[in-house]
Amino acid sequence: MKISVIGCGYLGAVHAASMAELGHEVVGIDVDAAKIDSLSSGRAPFFEPGLPETLKSALATGRLSFSTEFAAAAGAKVHFVAVGTPQKPGEYAADLSHVHAAVDALIPHLEDGDLVVGKSTVPVGTAAALATRMSVHSESVLLAWNPEFLREGFAIKDTISPDRLVYGVPAAEAGERATALLDEVYATALSNDTPRIVTDYATAELVKVAANAFLATKISFINAMAEIAEVSGADVTSLADAIGYDARIGRRFLNAGVGFGGGCLPKDIRAFSARAEELGRGESVAFLKEVDAINLRRRQRVVDLVKEEFGGQVYKKKVAVLGLAFKPDSDDIRDSPALDVAVQLHGLGAEVVATDPEAIDNSRKRHPQLLFTENVDTAVNRADAVVVLTEWKQFRSLDPVELGEKVDNKLIIDGRNCLDPAAWRAAGWTYRGMGRP
Ligand code: UDX
Repeated sequence: MKISVIGCGYLGAVHAASMAELGHEVVGIDVDAAKIDSLSSGRAPFFEPGLPETLKSALATGRLSFSTEFAAAAGAKVHFVAVGTPQKPGEYAADLSHVHAAVDALIPHLEDGDLVVGKSTVPVGTAAALATRMSVHSESVLLAWNPEFLREGFAIKDTISPDRLVYGVPAAEAGERATALLDEVYATALSNDTPRIVTDYATAELVKVAANAFLATKISFINAMAEIAEVSGADVTSLADAIGYDARIGRRFLNAGVGFGGGCLPKDIRAFSARAEELGRGESVAFLKEVDAINLRRRQRVVDLVKEEFGGQVYKKKVAVLGLAFKPDSDDIRDSPALDVAVQLHGLGAEVVATDPEAIDNSRKRHPQLLFTENVDTAVNRADAVVVLTEWKQFRSLDPVELGEKVDNKLIIDGRNCLDPAAWRAAGWTYRGMGRP
């Protein structure tokens, strides 16, 4: 099937490459010429394991191409809209200007019977409004909403073998046609028994934000328990293990630490709150404000732990920050708790030296005032404190004895509860975790 993917950011680039890998003929379109140049030559503009390989193999088959021209979408039967919906500056609401611009630019190139598929995360009600907007131009063009659940670091796998497929489609015959086209697109996943939920636009839009709101709530729940553990001497990691054995609760997403970040969870719960308020039901998701507040308090907790260890004053203390990305296997620093903590410590006068396997370039662009090094040994050299903020494998496997020889003061703050406290204490370190005694 011939497919166009509008927007070649994280979601769109992965989607385009994955659809070509599945055998479709795909053109990825983006207004950013630098991004298109990079993708056309098989280079991913961001770090995602497996993406460069998938891009190169799909480009080599001739099934994948990229363009800055919307006209390149002409002739495709299905058009995915995968542009960003960032948080509006100074507001909670999502900025939909890219979605509207993409659809407007696409409309002149659509033919009768084409299917436009929204993939972007949008406030509930967006698809219905877009369908009306499109119908002004053509009665016979279809719209479906097909939310994406990919996780950074697993993006290709999540796209090719998703947990589930959700189609938000119009009623009656138009819905049947949209469903049939989407089934053709996802034939490989469906042949592997991937569950498929066919529903209306509003439900499909809500599924995405509800899933992210639930995940964020789960993380903030365990971080709230960490706060209680901190004043009662309990250990939140044992607590998470114990409650996680209840299959109704489950152990995944119960890791207490410095909290969630990234381009999705924080902005999606805020946009959901804003949309619920617009709909007159703000109170239904008022708890999401608390989820956000708990999450932000955990960043402060790490800063406070460092301060506490130095009697309230971090001025001129040399602090090694290990981790800048919002999670491992990513170079993404959007709303990253790690980077936020590094910036806060720097703001308090600490001499911060930060390292990360992939996220230094992005961090330097945003915060040139910080000192960065590629090398853990250089970061920890003569440090007064070491703070682990992203649980990269190479940080989890650090040897406390070897590291102890490089620092001036053996203080480790484990912002991700990813180290073994007993091993670090045995090597003479003061170990401070999140919600651990
Ligand atoms: C998330 C959703 O998982 C995905 O389904 C959606 O499509 C996009 O948003 P992603 O942003 O890639 O994916 O990251 P995710 O793995 O969900 O982690 C989000 C944040 O939560 C990270 O900062 C991570 O460190 C944090 N986290 C996760 C915790 O603090 N504790 C946990 O137990 C799990």
